[in-house]
Parts: sequence; structure tokens; C-alpha cells
Amino acid sequence: MYVKKIAVVGAGTMGADICYTIATRGIPVVLRDVDEAQLTRAKKHIQELFDGRVGTNKMTLADAQDRMGFITFSSRLEDLDGVTLAIEAVTEQIRVKEAVFRELDQTLSSMALIVSNTSALSISHLAEVTGRPDRVAGMHFFYPAHMMKLVEVIAGDQSSDETIDTVMRLAEEIRKIPVRVKECPGFVVNRVLMASMAEVLRFKEEHDIAAAEIDQAITEAKIAPMGPFFLADALGLDVAYEVAQYLTQALGARFRPSDELKNMVAEGHLGMKTGHGFYSY
Ligand SMILES: NC(=O)c1ccc[n+]([C@@H]2O[C@H](COP(=O)([O-])OP(=O)(O)OC[C@H]3O[C@@H](n4cnc5c(N)ncnc54)[C@H](O)[C@@H]3O)[C@@H](O)[C@H]2O)c1
Repeated sequence: MYVKKIAVVGAGTMGADICYTIATRGIPVVLRDVDEAQLTRAKKHIQELFDGRVGTNKMTLADAQDRMGFITFSSRLEDLDGVTLAIEAVTEQIRVKEAVFRELDQTLSSMALIVSNTSALSISHLAEVTGRPDRVAGMHFFYPAHMMKLVEVIAGDQSSDETIDTVMRLAEEIRKIPVRVKECPGFVVNRVLMASMAEVLRFKEEHDIAAAEIDQAITEAKIAPMGPFFLADALGLDVAYEVAQYLTQALGARFRPSDELKNMVAEGHLGMKTGHGFYSY
């Protein structure tokens, strides 16, 4: 199937970067959010990414302006007219995603595909709330989505081969490396990442060690390019908490989030996006 116009639904941390990535390939894309302030923030962020490319001579000003013109920032459902594939990137809560999947199912042409950028939730479950379960799949980008090459492509129980082929081709067209993975809680990367993240968060709590001290030890030992606490702040502590809770329910206590993480989320300290998390920004 030919993808001629894309919608990215949810203009947060991931949605904005995914939208930028699509626009740089010259594909028309609508970035939709219900929150106008998020759309304004996303537009500023995307403009900064283009400015950065121009500033480092990786793109001409004219090309950057041209590519920016491929994006429609909108809170209006009418702007999804003509969309042939929608990428859902809203809050990692199953009820919120179910509502968005129902809305997209009612709004888009019956031929259109709906894919989810969920970190861990069931693609088969989301497919079931639509009348087109064969046209639903997972398309899981990694943070920061404009830089990270890997995309996990997940088939739900009813995804058709044509749907998966289209998603794999689209990922390649936007210069990503798609890997088809089996549907299971957390898929592959988050299952591994979140197990180690849960362990390091509990270690901090049990031994009362500063986040910066653990991050420094891990980066100096070259175990990872950035420390787990800095990474958690960048990903969004609410996302990390939701995923950890879901994986705990699905796979057991080894994914249990620390009390400190739970308390920070309850207090609205979500990391970089709110200016305060394990670090202050
Ligand atoms: N943050 C990461 O590092 C990361 C990495 C990979 C995948 N993901 C997944 O991507 C998704 C989005 O995560 P994020 O970090 O960008 O979240 P975020 O909190 O930064 O953004 C979520 C956005 O969804 C919007 N939204 C909520 N309800 C909506 C609705 N009904 N219609 C339209 N927009 C709505 C919110 O206004 C917000 O702008 C989640 O499923 C998450 O698990 C996140």
C-alpha cells in the first residue's frame, strides 16, 4: 500500500520528533494533539531541529523551509482528511489509547492503517477496539526518534502481511532500520531496558546513593552512553512509571518501579519535560 499522507497523533516528546523525521523525507504529515500548548511547543522544537541542520550546513535554508511546509500542526480532526497511515503517540495509558484508536477508526478512510508507538502495551488489544484489526500494527520508535535508527515493527494477532510490509517499507523510507518483533509485553528492547532500569532505581533507593553518582559510574565504565537517571528524565518519568507498572502486572515483580519514582510522578515531577526529575533543568 502507498502511504501518501501521515498523521502523528500526540505532539509530545516522541510525536514531535517522529513528525520531523517524516517531514524531512518530503512526506505530508499532520501533527495532531488535543492540547494547543503541546502543538506550539512541538512546532518550536521542530523548527529548532531544522535550524540546527541549516546551522551545521546539512540542509539549505530553502530546503528546511520547504520541509517545514510539509507539516500541518492541528487540533482539528478535519485535518486528518486524506491520511493513509496514522501513528498514535499519545500518553502511555491504555484507556487514552483506546479512545484515540476508536476516534481514528471513525475518522479515517477504511483503507488507512493505524499504528501505535506504544512502549509496551498490547497491539492486539488496541486493534480490537477498531473495525479494522487487520490494518493495525505496532511501530515503536526510540528516543530521540529523529536520531535513533531502530524501529520495532510489531504484528498483532490479526495484522495482515500487507500491513506489516507497508510499515516495514515506510520505516525504511524514513531512513530507519525496522526489525520485526513478536508481540509480547515490552517487546524486545523495553523488556531488557526496563528490567535493568527497575534494578538500578531500587539500588539507589536501598543504598541512598545520589543519581549523579550512579550515572557517573555507569558512563565512566562505558556501560552505556548516558546514565540511567539522566535517560529516565529524558524519556519522561510518567512514561517510565506507566511502562514499569504494566510490565510488573504482565511479567512480575522484577519490573516493580521504585517508591521514589512513584512519588515523583505523583508530585508532577516528570523529568526534562517539567523541568524537574532526578535532576533539575
Ligand atoms: N518518551 C519516550 O522515550 C518514548 C520512547 C518510545 C515510545 N514512547 C511511547 O510514545 C508514546 C508517547 O510518549 P511521549 O513520551 O511522547 O509522551 P508525552 O507525554 O510527551 O506526550 C503525549 C502527548 O499525547 C497528547 N494526547 C493525550 N491524549 C490525546 C488525545 N486524546 N488525542 C491527541 N493527543 C493526545 C498529550 O497532549 C501529549 O502532547 C507513549 O505510548 C510512549 O510509551 C515513548
